[in-house]
Amino acid sequence: MLGLARSALRVLPVPVRREGRHLLNRVGLWWDRAAGRTTVRRPPAEFVTGIGGGWEVGDAFLRHFRNLADLKPGEAVLDAGCGVGRMAVPLIPYLGPAGRYEGFDIIRDYVRWCRRAITPRWPNFRFTHADIFNREYNPRGPVRAGEYRFPYPGGSFDFAFLTSVFTHLMPPDAAHYLAEVGRVLKPGGRALATFFLLNGESNRLVDAGRGRFTLFPAEGVYRVHRRDIPEACIALDEGFVEGAIRAAGLTLDRPVRYGDWCGRPDGYDFQDILILRKR
Ligand SMILES: C[S@@+](CC[C@H](N)C(=O)[O-])C[C@H]1O[C@@H](n2cnc3c(N)ncnc32)[C@H](O)[C@@H]1O
Repeated sequence: MLGLARSALRVLPVPVRREGRHLLNRVGLWWDRAAGRTTVRRPPAEFVTGIGGGWEVGDAFLRHFRNLADLKPGEAVLDAGCGVGRMAVPLIPYLGPAGRYEGFDIIRDYVRWCRRAITPRWPNFRFTHADIFNREYNPRGPVRAGEYRFPYPGGSFDFAFLTSVFTHLMPPDAAHYLAEVGRVLKPGGRALATFFLLNGESNRLVDAGRGRFTLFPAEGVYRVHRRDIPEACIALDEGFVEGAIRAAGLTLDRPVRYGDWCGRPDGYDFQDILILRKR
């Protein structure tokens, strides 16, 4: 029935079509709730495209959370820059009812989707909108990332993660986010964060044209893919990130799992993965 309605939408002008799709998605979510569906439907295609595609990488990251950061069922978890729930969905069965998940993101529609699709059936999964400025994702946001206090008390999480978020933050904002991670983790708590880290090897590979995308030459401690919208894709100097980690009261678990984003032949994943621990 919903499928037929979706096909009928194709003959309508684009804006009407988009509104119609959102309405159908809402009907679908109501239906899921009423029918007691135990899985979460995939978000609208443009939302998945907006986070860079690859809905299925959530499963791979759940493996990273477990294998690299020892995530356990029942723990309290923070997903900073949660997008449209790509990481949250596989966590639902894993964390279980004793676990607690908090996600926040700067795109209102993504947060609204997660609140409608997930929270009513799994109330231990909660989502918060933060109206933070980002030239790529939220250019009208009034709040600066570098001044944003995560909306949780200190010491409230066992595990925090930021997947593909530091790759969209300018260096001072990234340092501030690391400090906030340090604040909200319990002593001994762990974090997993992904980056494009600039070091001798990655700079050399990118400069030789081996990277999966191009980067302009360094401007201080970072390089960007687009000068007009730096936040579209930012690589940060590894030494700068290490300093910010120490200043945040965190320690870096070695080895860093370097990714193949820069054309590295034996990358662990796409982005570089860091495991951090609160001292
Ligand atoms: C590539 S998407 C990744 C989303 C999600 N972490 C995932 O892996 O599915 C980048 C996300 O970072 C969010 N973002 C950008 N700047 C942010 C900030 N200052 N605080 C929180 N989220 C931010 C964007 O809105 C977007 O959802």
